Amino acid sequence: MNPQEREKEKPPTTTPRREGPWKVALLANIKERGKPLPADVPSDTGADYDYIETIDMIRAAIETDGHQTVFIPADTKLPYALKEIKPDICFNIAEGLGGDAREAQVPALLEMLKIPYTGSRVLTNAISLDKTLTKRIWRDRGLPVAPFQEFTFGDEPLRPELKQHFPLFVKPAREGTGMGVDQKAIVKDEAELRERANYIIHLYHQPALVEIFLPGREFTIGILGRRDAPLYSRHPEWYEKDGFHRLPILELDITRSVTPSVYGLEAKAQSVGSEGAPDYLCPAPIDPEMTRKLQHLAYRAHVILGSLDVSRTDVRLDAGGNPRLLEINTLPGLTPGYSDLCIQASAHGISYEDLILEILYLGASRWGLIEARPLAEQHKRN
Ligand SMILES: Nc1ncnc2c1ncn2[C@@H]1O[C@H](COP(=O)(O)OP(=O)(O)OP(=O)(O)O)[C@@H](O)[C@H]1O
Ligand SMILES: [Mg+2]
Repeated sequence: MNPQEREKEKPPTTTPRREGPWKVALLANIKERGKPLPADVPSDTGADYDYIETIDMIRAAIETDGHQTVFIPADTKLPYALKEIKPDICFNIAEGLGGDAREAQVPALLEMLKIPYTGSRVLTNAISLDKTLTKRIWRDRGLPVAPFQEFTFGDEPLRPELKQHFPLFVKPAREGTGMGVDQKAIVKDEAELRERANYIIHLYHQPALVEIFLPGREFTIGILGRRDAPLYSRHPEWYEKDGFHRLPILELDITRSVTPSVYGLEAKAQSVGSEGAPDYLCPAPIDPEMTRKLQHLAYRAHVILGSLDVSRTDVRLDAGGNPRLLEINTLPGLTPGYSDLCIQASAHGISYEDLILEILYLGASRWGLIEARPLAEQHKRN
């Protein structure tokens, strides 16, 4: 990558700091156990927030490398806490506090304050939360997505292309972690479609995304890195020549789960290996050609959206066995032994500590916190 290109990928940076140890602030929204929700919000509100135990595990992983960590809740007091604590870098997993681009709120604040942080930047986190926008971009760039239509009002005429293809699938356009997704998301006729779309629009206060129901197998694919990742990585040997590491594919076999056709919130909430949980198969039992195809699609999906350092893309097969991209998670869950990305990393022999530190170091490198590997060493690799 030439210096101008590298500059484009860098958030507005302050002067480079020392190579560490750093004061790392972990920014997250926490699930508050037992706290009743207001009456007018969906019952799955906050389902994508993290348990404090996950925060503790991420902090412990970062501390194994000698850094100091502090947890700062990503709430409305965050700007003041940042000014007081003055972290060298933030490890960002905050889902945000609502609104149309909540996953972009914390990155936007950090860029405004010129504080280094990990992972994707503002625009990518905003777009990737919006599944319709994401699919429009992918479709425009020739990536395979199922035919879809967004409903803002609920009474829009259904496009003929979809009319011929019941059952259809209806989900909130801007949620994650299976929120608003259960067996009733599958609708068999127009009356059911209208009812479900109106339910989503009114309860979640956002458009409903309607897609062709994809009846085939389901996979998720993690990507690490960026074009210059090997220059800064603690594990340059993980990366292919293009700077990206494609993690082994995880298949979610949901056929025996609580919701046998849908990997929604209820199925996601079951502990791995328990009754009613999907089977997590990693690496997925698929032929090498399909593996290559899925990894290539996830890589393209990641790069086209401008994702940085880490993402996880969900894919389903259509009736003809062709992969169709569902969505990308630029803030994938990071609970060890539970989150899809952690299962994939572990199947590849990547320890949880190494996964977390890699995300931290790749983030740090974009802000000049790490010197690039000396040229001589780079040549040795090539
Ligand atoms: N068009 C579709 N056809 C069939 N199943 C679908 C379709 N869209 C979504 N699903 C099912 O619903 C699940 C959740 O959908 P999706 O991945 O789009 O949303 P999400 O809630 O953002 O997921 P995540 O937890 O990965 O953030 C999928 O994993 C899949 O099982
Ligand atoms: Mg998903």
